[in-house]
Amino acid sequence: MDFIHSKNIFLLTRDTLKLMDSRPMKHGSRVAYLLYKMLQTQGGYEDFEMAEFCMLATLHDIGAYPIADLSKPLTFETRTTLPHSIYGYLFLKYLSPFADRAKILLNHHVTFMELAERGEKEYAEVTNFLSLAECVDVYRESLGERFNVQSFRPFEGKRFSKQALDVLDKAMVREPILEKLDSEEHEQELSKLMDNLMFTNEEKKSLMETIMYCLDFRSYMKVQDTAVCISICSQLADLLHLDGRTQEVLYYGALVHDIGMLGIPKEIIESSRKLTDEEMELMRGHVELEQKILENRLDPVSTQIALRHHERCNGSGYPLGLTGGEMNTPQKILQLADAVTGMINDRPHRPGMPPEKVRQILEKEQAEKAYDPEVIKAFFSQFDLILLQAMTQGKESLRTNASVISRYQKLEKMMQEQKKK
Ligand SMILES: [Fe+2]
Ligand SMILES: [Fe+2]
Ligand SMILES: [Fe+2]
Repeated sequence: MDFIHSKNIFLLTRDTLKLMDSRPMKHGSRVAYLLYKMLQTQGGYEDFEMAEFCMLATLHDIGAYPIADLSKPLTFETRTTLPHSIYGYLFLKYLSPFADRAKILLNHHVTFMELAERGEKEYAEVTNFLSLAECVDVYRESLGERFNVQSFRPFEGKRFSKQALDVLDKAMVREPILEKLDSEEHEQELSKLMDNLMFTNEEKKSLMETIMYCLDFRSYMKVQDTAVCISICSQLADLLHLDGRTQEVLYYGALVHDIGMLGIPKEIIESSRKLTDEEMELMRGHVELEQKILENRLDPVSTQIALRHHERCNGSGYPLGLTGGEMNTPQKILQLADAVTGMINDRPHRPGMPPEKVRQILEKEQAEKAYDPEVIKAFFSQFDLILLQAMTQGKESLRTNASVISRYQKLEKMMQEQKKK
């Protein structure tokens, strides 16, 4: 898959989450940098391995997005540490290609002693390093000048491993790593390391889907919307005999077409009343938001497909008001697919529309030449089948997502009970 380089997938994931709240990702970058320096000092790690561990370290608090109050990092990082650790673990285990390393996230707040008692050997060294790096950044951020890394020494062999504390000391002698956290230097060094990321095509596809699943952190509707939309796109692409390569660029364009929604307040996305003009303008801004993070990362053809999903062939769309002659077939397919998705899926103020109502609205819009005539003709030729298949696939994606949430609730309960014993 040459649609995106491995490093750009990392940047895209990080920046998509930053749209929602940049704080956990900035903290993640600092922790990843400290981990990088510790792994480098320890030795024995290939560059690509360090890069992958640092990608995980950047995302180590991903589980905080859906369930924690992000304005209170001290609460979820030092007191109620379990929920976001569990959620992040399940999210990566079931919705990413990092299933085998997801436990690092589950254990990032577990003490060295507890981990050793449990006999957890897999990735124990990285987990112990990450756990120390995490504490260094959290306490350094909250204590400022009063922070002294030596204050962790008394916890050697209990909260932290001796090895992790020794390696951090050594890394700090080699270079001023804590000072670098205060400038952009750590970001630059981390960025260079990330040049070594090397994902297989299958991993890349899976990671792009992970980005799509992040939409659920903002609104429960958006993952299902995207899945339904992708299904309509692929069925239309088949009917219009698009070649394999074009079908693939359309798939990736459709996959990320609404990721900018992560930057829109939940109250607006899920509003059950009519939006004011101002709110509507804000909502429309999701296209500009995703433009900033997609451009120069994802393949330009897929990027344009995504960025033009609200354009209409008669020039009535946004953000550019383009007309049919300025757009290509896959762009026009996504426009129709996205519009239909908005009609058939439930909205906070109404249930999904029945097929007949969808047909009526589309016919009315087509009287004003909103869509490409070939695309809409193909759609009407298999109307019922396309809708049925799209709804089935949408529900499937919802089930996958919901299974992470229900597993989370079960696991959290189990672990809370275990802690009480
Ligand atoms: Fe955490
Ligand atoms: Fe953290
Ligand atoms: Fe959109």
